[in-house]
Amino acid sequence: MHNVNVIDHPLIQHKLTIMRNVDTPTAVFRQLLREISHLLCYEVTRDIKLTTKTIHTPMQEMQAPTLAGKKLVFASILRAGNGLLEGMLDLVPSARVAHVGLYRDHDTLEAIEYYYKAPVNLQDRLVIAVDPMLATSNSATAAIEKLQNSGAKNIRFLCLLAAPEGIKNFQERLPDVPIYTAAIDEKLNEKGYIVPGLGDAGDRMYGTK
Ligand code: URA
Repeated sequence: MHNVNVIDHPLIQHKLTIMRNVDTPTAVFRQLLREISHLLCYEVTRDIKLTTKTIHTPMQEMQAPTLAGKKLVFASILRAGNGLLEGMLDLVPSARVAHVGLYRDHDTLEAIEYYYKAPVNLQDRLVIAVDPMLATSNSATAAIEKLQNSGAKNIRFLCLLAAPEGIKNFQERLPDVPIYTAAIDEKLNEKGYIVPGLGDAGDRMYGTK
């Protein structure tokens, strides 16, 4: 599939299986999401640019690699995006963070914005938008369009699970934004949930149901 990267490392698949299990407790679910986000972050940043700087080791001076350009931006699509965000910040603590608050209207499944705050100079930064579930894609596309309207040009979308319908809709609206996901599931059900999926990621993460 064009512009879709499935990051199916065995450790990710193993941890994801435990997360999918309905009997997995909230604390374990949240911990596994954090661990998986480390592995996903590693892959989504695999090709980012390096430059060199002069440092002194205890032995001698050297030209050593260091990340080039402005700090990355991680854009969390609230609230479930925060589950991926935390682990990504473990790996890239200096990243800037945007928050996009969206909820799904239960009848129309449309994304309604209730909060937006993003760092300055988005146009000069790689922005990685994160949300564990790419279901209808309404939230992800609304959030990314908002970031684009604020200047972001170089955007990637990272999730844990994607539905084929969500990928199709996403790519119709945002053909140039690459998707990174740990798995592509079978389908969406009539309520817009991914099946087999893992249920409501926010509820499972925060124990709200
Ligand atoms: N959001 C979720 O949390 N789970 C789904 O299955 C779909 C959207």
